[in-house]
Amino acid sequence: MTAPLLPVVTLDGPAGVGKTTLARRLAEALSLPYLDTGAMFRTLALRLGPDATALAPEELRARCAAWPFTLEGTGAESRLSCAGVPVGDEIRTEAVGLLAARLGTVPAARDILKEAQRRMGERGPLVAEGRDMGTAVFPGARFKFFLDATPETRALRRQRDLASRGQHEDLAVLTEQIRERDTLDRERAVAPLRPAEDALIVDTSALDIDGVFQALMRHIETHGGRAALAGR
Ligand code: DC
Repeated sequence: MTAPLLPVVTLDGPAGVGKTTLARRLAEALSLPYLDTGAMFRTLALRLGPDATALAPEELRARCAAWPFTLEGTGAESRLSCAGVPVGDEIRTEAVGLLAARLGTVPAARDILKEAQRRMGERGPLVAEGRDMGTAVFPGARFKFFLDATPETRALRRQRDLASRGQHEDLAVLTEQIRERDTLDRERAVAPLRPAEDALIVDTSALDIDGVFQALMRHIETHGGRAALAGR
């Protein structure tokens, strides 16, 4: 007998592809909690500092045990906390993103976070966003999406996004940062970034966020819809 599918939507893809915005919108439309697993890597990376990759696995476990994650609320009201403290904008810098990508190459760190992410999935239906949600953390998820776009397209989107917040960055620098993260994410030994065999791959290069959101919702609606995401 095959195991029943988990009532989970997974959204994986490279840095800057729009996963966060889309996962949040999907969670809002489906009234489900939204789990940003990049935020978990970023939070631990910030708390552990740049020497995290040199820690022995048992030392890493001991330190992370003091920082449990919790997820409350649904849709736009989803709130991730670490050791009781809400995760905020302090993790949203490129420097912390790079530290998080380095931490993501450490097998023990991936194990610690995979356990925490699965525990959240056991509590009920969820939209989970990251790099290895469909492949390693929730291989039995009901809906799996993999978003992609060229590094140049993602860098251009990031440049526009930053400009809308009054920050002006050079396109070549942004493209280089994206490529560096892609290399770390795709070439690590454990749970590298790649689509699950049964994921729907969406090339977002020619679509805006609304277009991608509609494509994902259409897929969910035509494959069982919200009912397929009811609790177990
Ligand atoms: O999605 P993000 O940019 O917030 O993620 C930051 C880094 O965290 C990403 O470059 C690699 C790591 N990460 C990971 O290894 N696995 C995940 N499921 C999510 C993020």
